[in-house]
Amino acid sequence: MEHNAAIHSQQCAILDAGAQYGKVIDRRVRELNVESVILPMDTPVTQLRDYRAIIISGGPQSVFGPAAPKYDPDLFTLETPMLGICYGMQLINYAHGGTVKTQTVREDGQYEITIDPSSQLFLNLDLKQQVLLTHGDNIEMVAEGFRVIGTSGALPTAIENARRKLYGVQFHPEVDLTTNGKQMLKNFLFGIAGFDGSFTVGNREEHAMREIRQHVGDKKALVLVSGGVDSTVCATLLTKALGADRVIAIHVDTGFMRRDESKNVKQALEAIGLLLRVVDASQTFYHATTVIGSEPTQPLNQVLAPEEKRKIIGNTYMHVVDEVMNDLGLVPNDVYLAQGTLRPDLIESASSLASGNADVIKTHHNDTQLVRQLRQQGRVLEPLKDYHKDEVRALGTLLGLPEALVWRQPFPGPGLAIRILCSDGSIDQGTLEKIQLELKAFETRDIRLFVLPVQSVGVQGDGRSYKYVVGVSGNVPWQQCAEFAKEIPKRVHGVNRVVRILGSAMGSFNATLTPTTLTPLVVQKLQVADDIVNQVVAEAGLMKKLSQVPVVLVPLSFGIADAHSIVLRPFITNDFMTGRPAIPGADLDESVVDAIVERVTTEVPGIARVLYDMTGKPPGTTEWE
Ligand code: XMP
Repeated sequence: MEHNAAIHSQQCAILDAGAQYGKVIDRRVRELNVESVILPMDTPVTQLRDYRAIIISGGPQSVFGPAAPKYDPDLFTLETPMLGICYGMQLINYAHGGTVKTQTVREDGQYEITIDPSSQLFLNLDLKQQVLLTHGDNIEMVAEGFRVIGTSGALPTAIENARRKLYGVQFHPEVDLTTNGKQMLKNFLFGIAGFDGSFTVGNREEHAMREIRQHVGDKKALVLVSGGVDSTVCATLLTKALGADRVIAIHVDTGFMRRDESKNVKQALEAIGLLLRVVDASQTFYHATTVIGSEPTQPLNQVLAPEEKRKIIGNTYMHVVDEVMNDLGLVPNDVYLAQGTLRPDLIESASSLASGNADVIKTHHNDTQLVRQLRQQGRVLEPLKDYHKDEVRALGTLLGLPEALVWRQPFPGPGLAIRILCSDGSIDQGTLEKIQLELKAFETRDIRLFVLPVQSVGVQGDGRSYKYVVGVSGNVPWQQCAEFAKEIPKRVHGVNRVVRILGSAMGSFNATLTPTTLTPLVVQKLQVADDIVNQVVAEAGLMKKLSQVPVVLVPLSFGIADAHSIVLRPFITNDFMTGRPAIPGADLDESVVDAIVERVTTEVPGIARVLYDMTGKPPGTTEWE
């Protein structure tokens, strides 16, 4: 007990109210060399009292709602300095007698707020601050003893009770979209809570290797290598910890890889001394089914729903791995399955490992039911589960991996399968017409906006959305397109994404869809387009600057029989939790976009149009499904 008290007095507890950004708070705190621990919201006060500070996270619920996460009613009898973020702020206010109200208009996105620089929380900051506001609830009446230290119009966006060291912010200081969020956290941790920043991460490589050796004992580790930086670093780390003879590295070609990807991955890894077995399972995947609930699905090459595609691919992946293990004569109980799962992957699939409360944003293929079962049996090894992408890259460099591998852009496990929007060709005219009417308010003589009959995944508030895409056509400056992409999803409810329709301006829009499923011909079409985009991006030297450039095939045919369209999604982010579109003219040369359009429309048969995604995250996600 004594011992714990001493340790906790050097730690910051993060109470998890179900925030999608919970692990990002943890990451930011650790970045400031302060040790943090994530604990459930209902942790008893007896276990909390020794922490030097407490941060209460955001969350999707209302503090007064029936689903509000439970917490110890004595929480606020503690004298510990506390910072409440979004939900956490509302809770602090509500618990002290203030009121909280659900707003009719959601305040989602980057906003400028006005702060009071005399507050210790905002020390060294200017009056105006760019922040990410994301909650539908707001403080109505401020609790007694508290004062407002930040506003957005009439809304309180930050409060403090300086005497009791209680602080609340209605925005997310932990994400990049809050420009000075790091300084605010620093002010809280150092100035207010009195940490000294002495927790240096030390040698993470050593720590990870020790964990691997302890876990695996004298058994073997099987690692699935996609070729991306995460699984490559994972395989390298395993090899270093256990020796090459105890590591079985397998690459499964799902049929949804990039053009020549499997061949290239094998060559690249052999060059650093890793023997990779490549399994061609594309036929198995095309025809794979799974059971969802108690219903068997259609074969993958007939399925339309994004999450259904993900589940089939995730489960098939595991079956293929089981088969490979059989073929190699490996006994399941003697082998651990190692995966390069990172923190953000787990947060976004609401895994119990990262957060008990987060809404399911996406079902990740490395976190399916089956993997969860294996995890429960203690048979999944995830040595990178505490790492974010930038840290994995640093570790990769430390391990001596070549730059080209370390800086490879991420590629999702389900591959091109989730970059092909499937459709049976049908269109919900009624809904589209309603949305189209709402777009009138944004149009001018030169700018036409069209609601496109395709839906994509987005993230709004702390939850996931599935909504229509708006296309901008006409002679519009890129910056103005970016403004549309911020404004329209805020004001038009059925929309979460805005693209620019490249090519000639359109006076009218032919809303037609080509029935599309995951067939080899469709996949090949995207592979060719994706390859062209990659070549142009690499030639322009943009691989590092653009965090990721998903290329998406959508069934929009613009009236041309059997045609599809291609969406470019150049995206800039540090952590993939939030991010912004790369804007031509500012982040990349317009000539790069022109070159892509020219080559894709002439070299790939059956492409009607090329679109450019201008949406930030939120409200859009990086990927479209
Ligand atoms: P989103 O689309 O959620 O993507 O903004 C964030 C990052 O995660 C990748 N991603 C996936 N990776 N399985 C994966 O292994 C998936 O199902 C999946 N979905 C998205 C995405 O490419 C981006 O880097």
